[in-house]
Amino acid sequence: MTPRTDFAAWLQGTNDMTSRFVGAAGIAGLVNVAGGLPDPSLFPSERLADIAAGAIRGTPEVALGYGPTPGLPELRAEIAARFRARGAAVTAENVMITASGSQALDLIGKVLIEPGRVIGCDFPTYAGALDAFRPRAPRYRHLDLADHAGLPAALLRTDLAYLVPNFSNPTGKLVDLETRRALVAAAEETGTWLIEDDPYGALYYDGPALPGLLELSCDGGDGPYRGPVIHLGSLSKQLVPGLRVGWVIAAPEVIAQLSSAKQATDLCSNTLAQMMTLAALREGLVEEVHPRAIALYRERRSALAAAMARHISAWFDWEVPVGGMFIWARAKDRRLDVEQVVEAGLAEGVLVGPGSAFDPMGLAGPALRLNFTANDAEGLDRAMARLARAMQAVSPAAAPAGLAAG
Ligand SMILES: Cc1ncc(COP(=O)(O)O)c(C=O)c1O
Repeated sequence: MTPRTDFAAWLQGTNDMTSRFVGAAGIAGLVNVAGGLPDPSLFPSERLADIAAGAIRGTPEVALGYGPTPGLPELRAEIAARFRARGAAVTAENVMITASGSQALDLIGKVLIEPGRVIGCDFPTYAGALDAFRPRAPRYRHLDLADHAGLPAALLRTDLAYLVPNFSNPTGKLVDLETRRALVAAAEETGTWLIEDDPYGALYYDGPALPGLLELSCDGGDGPYRGPVIHLGSLSKQLVPGLRVGWVIAAPEVIAQLSSAKQATDLCSNTLAQMMTLAALREGLVEEVHPRAIALYRERRSALAAAMARHISAWFDWEVPVGGMFIWARAKDRRLDVEQVVEAGLAEGVLVGPGSAFDPMGLAGPALRLNFTANDAEGLDRAMARLARAMQAVSPAAAPAGLAAG
């Protein structure tokens, strides 16, 4: 008999963006501006190789053994110390190590979301979070972040809020300081969990970093922190994504519940990767990579904006973000079919991200997410020239005269 195929119902709702992207990545000559990948030239591979060898040879019983579910104590303490240095009064008790930000989102779904609970988001929002929460069958409500006075009432109508205040994926939007303060005050007043997903917080290209929601919610005591913010961090965009090391910083009772859920998921995070992370942090590798990443990505951000102005301004509007990895291109024609643009782009040799995956309620109108970190200036220009040809095929009325080949 053939095996049954009555898979869980929630799978019907998953977006196929990631699998489509993985499939398309094999097309020869394709320029991929759809992903959100760091540039591998920034990876400190030799240093990490030495660290890994040292960890395995030096303490194989730790590096190759099981570890505690909430993470290696020294790594939890190191993360807490780093956050204390930037003004967040937290202790190791507030920290849990995860298999990067993605696992933290999955565990939050398991611990805080009962079917039908309401999640408040600033749409468009990270499609990976929507995917992680999907098995829990939540409902969603858009949070109007500009309405500061209305935020407490808005949070009362939600069970938890999920936000990416630093350079949102997909829009690149930076939530300003006044709005951050209003959000934290509203969460504290209403007792609503406020998830601050922050993989891009190190990637500020212009101007100083704003304090995070966690810092704004800490009262400066000796800790542990007991407030409503649940901060998610990750090394993926500031060191390497392959180690799959991230962390949750939250009140100890949240950490305890997340730890129970993690036990059933993977018992513990990869101990070798945690040891490598600890050594990399202690040796200052993140600080070494940081200025190079900022210089490279700042230049590429400007290169993509310039290429967009050269090639696709007839069809799209955008703001140039001050950090992160993406430019959000909003279609001037609200009737544009973005799926058609993705297909036409593929035919021209460019892969772009459809905005619809981040905006299931269609609040923002048709848009594309364009990544600038994974290609050099030449590749970005080629990508936008190809996108212009795709747009000419999909929406010829708006096309400027004499599109260049490339
Ligand atoms: C907003 C946001 N959250 C979380 C993640 C998950 O990243 P990772 O699992 O590599 O930490 C990403 C990855 O792109 C992201 O953009």
